[in-house]
Amino acid sequence: MEQYIIRGGNPLVGEVEISGAKNAALGILAAAIMTDDTVLIENLPDVRDINVLLEAMESIGVKVERITKHAVLMNSANVGEVSVDYEYIKKIRASYYLIGALLGKYKRAEVPLPGGCNIGSRPIDLHIKGFKALGAKVSIRKGFIIAEAEHLKGSHIYLDTVSVGATINIMMAAAMAEGRTIIENCAREPHVVDVANFLNSMGANIKGAGTDVIRIRGVQRLHKTEYSIIPDQIEAGTFMFAAAATKGDVMVKHVIPKHLEATTAKLLEIGCEVEEFDDAVRVVASKRLRSTNVKTLPYPGYPTDMQPQIGVTLALAAGTSIVTESIFENRFKYMDELARMGAVVRVEGNTAIITGVDKLSGARVSAPDLRAGAALVIAGLAAEGETVVDDIVYIQRGYEEFEEKLRSLGAEIERVNSDRAAQKFRLKLG
Ligand code: EPZ
Repeated sequence: MEQYIIRGGNPLVGEVEISGAKNAALGILAAAIMTDDTVLIENLPDVRDINVLLEAMESIGVKVERITKHAVLMNSANVGEVSVDYEYIKKIRASYYLIGALLGKYKRAEVPLPGGCNIGSRPIDLHIKGFKALGAKVSIRKGFIIAEAEHLKGSHIYLDTVSVGATINIMMAAAMAEGRTIIENCAREPHVVDVANFLNSMGANIKGAGTDVIRIRGVQRLHKTEYSIIPDQIEAGTFMFAAAATKGDVMVKHVIPKHLEATTAKLLEIGCEVEEFDDAVRVVASKRLRSTNVKTLPYPGYPTDMQPQIGVTLALAAGTSIVTESIFENRFKYMDELARMGAVVRVEGNTAIITGVDKLSGARVSAPDLRAGAALVIAGLAAEGETVVDDIVYIQRGYEEFEEKLRSLGAEIERVNSDRAAQKFRLKLG
């Protein structure tokens, strides 16, 4: 089983380039099915979730041609199947975006129900509510969601909870429904806007993405397009906190600073210097960080996907911090691992109380999920001594060349899959 071996203590210094946004790309790839023309998508991140979704799409007849590591040509004229195999949804929940895309275009979709995952139960009742409001019959049989409709008719849909997935999925189905759809209480994340912009570049008529009301006029067909995915604000924020936790000086390039406002605000609050450029941000942390309080909220609030990263950073800040996770019910599992590195943390329900310590000491820890895994790597980079992170397959789902990018900033980190390789790394470090 692959692991990261880290020797902590080096401040991260230098420049790092951010890849395309995984969570925008997942919706955009699914939406590309909705035209029979060829679509070119660029700035795709080369990460496991994207590659698995592309395999799932090929399995139902989408022609996928990799132009480069970060660009694909896709054509869905010969999609013969609207049933996606369970093995794909087991690997990646976001295959459920195929329901909205297939239902919108073919008026039928059969996709396995996504299971829960490590951060919470993650129901999709709001997705189903939206499909039904558009006139689809939705049933669950043998673990599959089967959505079908004679034709889809625009509707006025109110989302009880702000949901990124439901907003994107319903927006896709409504893009080819008859008439007007209004979706209220929408998610406003940059990746929701990116999917809307992509659909509009194919001839859809979607207005208001990025606000809490999206208005859609359905169209008969969608046409070819060439599109480049926005930068990944969560990858960017992860490197920003890695700079903060290791008292480094890092220029994070290929970002949209506007998307990072909540992260930047927190870094300034805990005593970092943050300088914004057109498509880069520079984070410098020269002195001991200060404690703060943070509550995760839908965008533009502080992102839940950045909660573990600030959590591990606050473990080293002077004073006591309170972190409240308001989106998912089980996103503090990494705190037990952090405590094994010497952090003083207490989790009570959806709140973590963190009392900063002068230093963390390296230990063997295991990644409980994608973002918590990345956060434990940050903790290892800041700790004294050696940290081994197990189950790094979670991290590879959403971070392209994670260890290479960290090494280019001076981190002493290696991906190994045997004790021998681990020993070799230790000898190399001396
Ligand atoms: C997306 O998940 C992201 N994943 C998550 O990122 C991110 O944490 C989350 O949005 C919140 O920003 C992708 O985009 C692929 P939600 P999603 O629907 O769409 C509840 C990562 O690290 N809810 O916005 O599944 C849900 O339980 C991943 O890249 C319902 O109750 O999140 C949660 O409490 C982790 N019913 C809240 O809404 C529904 O039908 C927000 O979930 C749907 C959601």
